[in-house]
Amino acid sequence: TTKAVILVGGPSRGTRFRPLSLDLPKQQPLFEVAGHPIIEHCFAAVTRVPEIREVFIVGYYDESVFRDFIKDCSRSYPQISIRYLREYQALGTAGGLYHFRDAILKGKPDRFFVLNADVCCSFPLEQMLRLFEEKDAEAIILGTRVPNDSATNFGCIVSDAHSKRVLHYVEKPESHISNLINCGVYLFATDTIFPSIKSAMKRRADRPRLVSYPSSDALDRTYLPQEDDEDGEKTEVIRLEQDILSDLADSRQFFVLETKDFWRQIKTAGSAVPANALYLMKAFQQQSEELAKPSATILPPVFIHPTAHVDPTAKLGPNVSIGPRATIGAGVRIKEAIVLEDAEIRHDACILYAIIGWSSRVGAWARVEGTPTPVREHSTSVVKNGVKVQSITILGKECTVADEVRVQNCVCLPYKELKRDVTNEVIM
Ligand code: GDD
Ligand code: GTP
Repeated sequence: TTKAVILVGGPSRGTRFRPLSLDLPKQQPLFEVAGHPIIEHCFAAVTRVPEIREVFIVGYYDESVFRDFIKDCSRSYPQISIRYLREYQALGTAGGLYHFRDAILKGKPDRFFVLNADVCCSFPLEQMLRLFEEKDAEAIILGTRVPNDSATNFGCIVSDAHSKRVLHYVEKPESHISNLINCGVYLFATDTIFPSIKSAMKRRADRPRLVSYPSSDALDRTYLPQEDDEDGEKTEVIRLEQDILSDLADSRQFFVLETKDFWRQIKTAGSAVPANALYLMKAFQQQSEELAKPSATILPPVFIHPTAHVDPTAKLGPNVSIGPRATIGAGVRIKEAIVLEDAEIRHDACILYAIIGWSSRVGAWARVEGTPTPVREHSTSVVKNGVKVQSITILGKECTVADEVRVQNCVCLPYKELKRDVTNEVIM
């Protein structure tokens, strides 16, 4: 049998999801894109693999965060057991797996999937299983090609093109080694991964070292202190990427499945806009009943929550999600955007490449707009007149934009009132 683990991390890592995460009734994995929480897209992929009966969400958020989500999932998929396993502190991507190994190993599964919750992709899990069997593998990693200049923001894979064997793996290398990168989706044989983690832990204990990790993104990195747990034992963070994957590459039974399908990371709030577009397009291709019916004013794909109110003269799409109880007035134009719960867009306003936060209000004839980012681009900032600006305009919770005001390439923290035009600013 096969199980699945979805890694969700914890609240301290929400910094890049500002300003939406600043005022969270919801946490990042529960942020909705294309009408569903980010994590539900991962869970849905797992449910499509018939042999998976048990799914664990592993992280260090409070227990209460995923309670309702899990209840909903158990109701929709009664054949699958889904549970949240909470780390008492951040244990790292491999540390969490190891800590909960008894739960994962129960019932003796031969293998299990590990999914980073903060990625958006088509999750070709069945193909990974097939490659696993074909190669009699110990591990499969999902890889994708990205433009050379973004590759070093990710884990980089050097593979043998013919055998698909992973020859080298380097997490966020200093300089270019490959444009085939780690998508954050793995399939591991249970009988090799836990011994690998164990020996990495032992190595670590024998050779004390810094617990900080090199990273190209200082913003997102927290320096994790070495802490003593209740038993007075040294507990340390163990990461799959830095501590385990390069060893697996030496074992020679580690293979990569390269996906040609879409893949994006969802780290920043702005990246929710391209993720929304990708999942909507996927739903559209699959002729999902959930999407709004195309018409003169609905350019597909568009998701409108059943409780939202959209004036029939408003023109929506492509790639628009309208959240619960949102109100969209007459003559409004929205494209490439997410409008969250209880937001109100008054008549003739225009929303492009933007996220409108919970309960925000956009006035009549106002414009809230960002700049399109190239599809292949793995970043949501653009350079304008030599300055890096946010390409997606984001209004945090309960912001107000006055009538006829234009907000362009801005990030606006919660509860702000915008009464005059603003461009390329962070409004605090
Ligand atoms: N349970 C748990 N405990 N989960 C964690 C922890 C932890 O201590 N730390 C991170 N995570 C979760 C995050 O929520 C995310 O889903 C995943 O593990 C990886 O997060 P990071 O450790 O922040 O790595 P990253 O996102 O910068 O890079 C990883 O993902 C890229 C693809 O998106 C790496 O695997 C890269 O190689 C990869 O390219
Ligand atoms: P298409 O790309 O074929 O849809 O044509 P287009 O680019 O001329 O128009 P689109 O509907 O894509 O909207 C682009 C711009 O037109 C926006 O910047 C809006 O300012 C403006 N616009 C179009 N329709 C409306 C509308 O019904 N109301 C408002 N307020 N603005 C609109």
